[in-house]
Amino acid sequence: MGTTVFFGAGNISQSIIKGLIKNGVSKKDILYIDRNASNKKILSKIGIKPIDKNLLNNKIESIILAVKPKDALQACKEISDITNAPNIISVVAGIKLKKIAKCFDKAQVVRAMPITASAYGKGITAIYGKTNSKKLISRSKKLFSQVGASIILKKESELDNFTGLIGSGPAYFFYLLKVYEKRVLKLCDGDKKFANKIISNFLDGISSSIDDGVGLDEAINMIASKKGTTEAGINSLKKNNVLQLFEKGIISAIKRSKEISNEY
Ligand SMILES: NC(=O)c1ccc[n+]([C@@H]2O[C@H](COP(=O)([O-])OP(=O)(O)OC[C@H]3O[C@@H](n4cnc5c(N)ncnc54)[C@H](OP(=O)(O)O)[C@@H]3O)[C@@H](O)[C@H]2O)c1
Repeated sequence: MGTTVFFGAGNISQSIIKGLIKNGVSKKDILYIDRNASNKKILSKIGIKPIDKNLLNNKIESIILAVKPKDALQACKEISDITNAPNIISVVAGIKLKKIAKCFDKAQVVRAMPITASAYGKGITAIYGKTNSKKLISRSKKLFSQVGASIILKKESELDNFTGLIGSGPAYFFYLLKVYEKRVLKLCDGDKKFANKIISNFLDGISSSIDDGVGLDEAINMIASKKGTTEAGINSLKKNNVLQLFEKGIISAIKRSKEISNEY
């Protein structure tokens, strides 16, 4: 891997950086630009150095644009003031490829949508780029494959579906788990560390059976028995249309992703 510069080094950049380091990428190949003092402190602690904006040049293999959507076009302007033909991998939700490419004379631009689980090598990243950016697409795939699984999308609009389903996805499960946290904490007398261990084992178990190829219905049937507790729980969830409501939440996120795309 050549040098990668993270422009904006907050939540998502730090997750990717941690995952890259975990996978053996040399710290000297990772640099960042960020104005936020607390992010600087965190990165310095893990041995990642900043780069002066004025040193952005052709030797940088790619710049990961990772600022909030409201800051993205200004950040592109700052980059284009220094270099006009960079390789940009934008992880910014909602800002279309065309908008970013327009900020430069002849930049290669690819969009990627990673998730914070990249920090643990459990990332899932969608990548989209035009056919004339083949080289950067394959470079992006290589980079994100080091922090988990990555898929190349055929259409830019598919990024909205991915964002609503997978990008925002972990937050839905964290939200649902609040029910578990509350009740598990009671079971272990408020011992948060122990409660976290229980929830983490619980999720690891679910994840392992999916990894093993056990089908979802089969997995449910392995737990449920006629007139037992699981059957009562599942029947109540069905009666209350929990699946439909959950899907409605996902659809709202996809809709919002499309709206954001039109706002910028
Ligand atoms: N978080 C996720 O799970 C996730 C997943 C996929 C995609 N994304 C996308 O990734 C992007 C970043 O999200 P995030 O959660 O990582 O945001 P974040 O934590 O706010 O990090 C962005 C950082 O960039 C800095 N920054 C903004 N403009 C700058 C500039 N011109 N020069 C130097 N530093 C600048 C910000 O500084 P200030 O704090 O001073 O503004 C902030 O420290 C967003 O567009 C989001 O849509 C996020």
